[in-house]
Amino acid sequence: MRVIQDIDALRETRRAWRASEEEIAFVPTMGNLHKGHLRLVEEAKKVSSKVVVSIFVNPLQFGPDEDLDAYPKTLENDTAALAALDVDVLFMPKIDDIYSRGIEQQTFVEVPGLSYMICGASRPGHFRGVATIVCKLFNMVQPNHAFFGEKDFQQLQVIKAMVTDLSMNLIIHGIPTQRHEDGLAMSSRNGYLDHEQRAISPLLYLELCALRDRIKAGARNFSELIVAAKQRLSDAGFNPDYIELRSAQTLMQVGHEDKDLVILAAAFCGKTRLIDNLRFAI
Ligand code: PAF
Repeated sequence: MRVIQDIDALRETRRAWRASEEEIAFVPTMGNLHKGHLRLVEEAKKVSSKVVVSIFVNPLQFGPDEDLDAYPKTLENDTAALAALDVDVLFMPKIDDIYSRGIEQQTFVEVPGLSYMICGASRPGHFRGVATIVCKLFNMVQPNHAFFGEKDFQQLQVIKAMVTDLSMNLIIHGIPTQRHEDGLAMSSRNGYLDHEQRAISPLLYLELCALRDRIKAGARNFSELIVAAKQRLSDAGFNPDYIELRSAQTLMQVGHEDKDLVILAAAFCGKTRLIDNLRFAI
């Protein structure tokens, strides 16, 4: 596995691959890799002859009071795990190369509508930061395929919309959320949880499952169900941010004709903001 920091060196490698008509898959990450990320790499390997993984903790997608400085860095483990999977290139660009004119001056990409609702309402500017860095990384890596976890369901929809709107020539793959045995979705932020918080953390997913089961059984009083679910999470020690039931296709409010639904949730467990979602059909 080659570790590349320099954007020109990455482009040089990309040029050589293009000459030999290689199919390129790309997995963008912020590091602190867990089994969920490694699954993305495994899926990427199935569709392409070359796999590029990036590690870049993107300041543009963090709010002023968020965990940018504390974001876990485990570079040695990450490098070993990616090398063991036979990744072709680990791309780790430097912040000054990515935002060479400074973050304040940075041209941005924003997907309207989708970026402002649900998580976007709680984290203003977050999806602008995500869309901008993903667009820039796509321009550098020029992949044929890119892989994202469905755990960040709204992020995946934002990226798909960006690719459509900007006529980008690649296929976006969403890969199912990887979970611990007790149901907690794998996330780099789980490492922040202390013993007590880790013990209650699976309740978030269990609450989503209970909501899904009630709706599948015919319950249609969605807002009452959601209020009750939030209350149970609060009683268990969470500070719920949102629980939303939406159309999985559009992320808009559920209409009578919608059959493909998703419940999206975010809740603080101590200071750690956990997100999760559950897609289902009715
Ligand atoms: O999902 C993530 O880890 C990040 O949002 C991404 C897609 C790597 C962009 O920084």
